[in-house]
Amino acid sequence: MTYQEFYDRSMSSPEAFWREQAEAIPWFKKPEKILSKDEEGLYRWYEGGKLNTAYIALDRHVENGRGQQVALYYDSPVTDSKQVFTYEELLDEVKLFAGVLRERGVQKGDTVIIYMPMIPQTVIAMLACARLGAIHSVVFGGFAPHELAIRIDDAKPKLLLAASCGIEITKVIDYVKIINEALEESEHQPEGCIVYQRPQLAAPLKSGRDHDWQALLDKAEPADYVPVEATDPLYILYTSGTTGRPKGVMRDNGGHAVAMEFSMKYIYGVQPGDVYWAASDVGWVVGHSYIVYAPLIHGCSTILYEGKPVKTPDAGSFWRVIEEYKVKAFFTAPTAFRAIKKEDPNGVLKKKYDTGSLQYLFLAGERCDVATLEWSGNLLRVPVIDHWWQTESGWPMLSNMVGVEPLPIKPGSAAKPVCGYGLKVVGPDGEGLPARQEGAVVIRLPLPPGCLPNLWNDTARFLSSYMSSYPGYYFTGDGGYIDEDGYVFITGRIDDIINVAGHRLSTAKMEEVVASHPAVAECAVIGVEDEMKGQIPIGFVVLKGGVDKTETELEQELIQMVRAKVGPVASFKKVAIVPRLPKTRSGKILRRIMRQIADGKPFATPSTIEDMTVLPELETLMRERKISHGA
Ligand code: COA
Ligand code: AMP
Repeated sequence: MTYQEFYDRSMSSPEAFWREQAEAIPWFKKPEKILSKDEEGLYRWYEGGKLNTAYIALDRHVENGRGQQVALYYDSPVTDSKQVFTYEELLDEVKLFAGVLRERGVQKGDTVIIYMPMIPQTVIAMLACARLGAIHSVVFGGFAPHELAIRIDDAKPKLLLAASCGIEITKVIDYVKIINEALEESEHQPEGCIVYQRPQLAAPLKSGRDHDWQALLDKAEPADYVPVEATDPLYILYTSGTTGRPKGVMRDNGGHAVAMEFSMKYIYGVQPGDVYWAASDVGWVVGHSYIVYAPLIHGCSTILYEGKPVKTPDAGSFWRVIEEYKVKAFFTAPTAFRAIKKEDPNGVLKKKYDTGSLQYLFLAGERCDVATLEWSGNLLRVPVIDHWWQTESGWPMLSNMVGVEPLPIKPGSAAKPVCGYGLKVVGPDGEGLPARQEGAVVIRLPLPPGCLPNLWNDTARFLSSYMSSYPGYYFTGDGGYIDEDGYVFITGRIDDIINVAGHRLSTAKMEEVVASHPAVAECAVIGVEDEMKGQIPIGFVVLKGGVDKTETELEQELIQMVRAKVGPVASFKKVAIVPRLPKTRSGKILRRIMRQIADGKPFATPSTIEDMTVLPELETLMRERKISHGA
């Protein structure tokens, strides 16, 4: 079947299409309805179906004779250690840790926050929650205590699971200290914390609150899986919105399992038994979907890599992993390749390794510039598939579906809509735009299985953020255009979200922190193009009258504040003091124009601008401070 035929079928008869795809996963009870609406009028997939995601990812493979196959390779250059788990071994670990959670009172529908690094215990914890029907929420380790506290207050976890530390190249990050600070700030207090003590740092445990992971495991009994409804939540994953408050993206069990299985076969083109590697972090959606759930659901061997593309120990580590585990499909963010290219521009280290097992390189998480795409393809000698998606979708929305029919690659485009995604580029009035005209990228409702059915406990925000701008469509937040052959080009976010080294961050959040500095009268934080990280945030600050501070002093203080309140992952490292900010007469800061100036792009001065002289003044300032792109 061609891609076009397959795609057309998914759009013309979605229910028949997704009924057929649901056959690929084992159900305890088949769904009564394929597509329906819940009591709030929101679309739901597979109502009435019963299943268990951990059962699908582990037990059924053991039952079907895959028990001795490797499920998980843990490769940690930062601790100089490796570990291998077969499906049978991983299942045993998950059963036992589910027993620990059950013993601590965790039941179906309870929430559990996981603040842990890239170690097998994190994967085990996620699957153990899924086994009990509990809802996990993994929080990325690079976030500060304040961000963790916000998530604790929103998710209200029964338990908090942590490791004693994370390791960033050579730095040991004290996770328990972060947890202590977060719990001091949060109103909600979990019933307890379970801490996995890593040999690199023994955390002092608080009596009455903290429990030692291993000690609980030593006396645990394995727990069986708990069947859940297809529409029951599997996890909540917080992601940056356009305000300072993150959005709790909710994922259900049924639609997610079907989408994960479907994507492995038809998008990534891998078979059960193949080795699949996503070099990301379990704290991001890429890690949830393509380190943990999809490869295991599909019966692949997955790799948990606790390291970086460079410096652990060098820019050849990716090639070493590909050779060592015979990786067939590899997924990472373009920024990783830019980091490698910077260290090893001629790919000398690649020559030391045999990466012949590799069939495809998949890139996502941020816009892929053509130079990076071409450099990666030339180095690895495989097709490079740029594909586009987001936390909300949980799996690719645009891709070359190489498991169906590999299409010719057009550099700069993430190819065509994946089955189930009725993608359109629209103008401000919601009308579809002609070829090559740039507008907002929207998806016709219903979204396919696996996409967010709602935000956690916030239907109003779900509707206002995604559903109200273009009635009948989901608004992705991205801009783009479609060419005459139907290839889609994503040009970037059209809201105030930025993408720093593949990490999605809110500039509004950073502005909140910068504005709270006593010397700051007003400020704007914008994302500016960066050669390595794609974008980096820069703060523009107007000082209060009478403040006597140098730019360097203020910069250092603000950097520390953003690190402490948002986290080091924000990479907030540059501040410029400006006499004033460009605004409309109604007082709205013209952030988009500031971005265009910084990126050296043409811009039109709006007629509503408060003062015509402020933009040329800003242009000069950005040039002088070397903020403008290419300066
Ligand atoms: N726990 C604690 N701190 C973390 C962290 C974690 N899990 N992850 C990152 N940080 C910290 C880093 O130590 C760094 O701190 P510093 O300012 O003190 O040096 C800061 O957050 C920024 O980290 P990072 O974005 O990783 O930048 P980097 O300069 O250290 O490395 C890359 C740049 C490109 C090598 C790195 O971003 C990378 O490997 N990206 C791969 C892409 C990826 O994983 N994308 C995710 C979505 S697919
Ligand atoms: P996240 O939710 O963290 O996965 O970030 C999703 C956002 O990253 C999207 O809305 C896009 O802005 C951006 N993004 C992801 N993949 C791509 C891609 N292939 N091309 C362009 N932008 C991308």
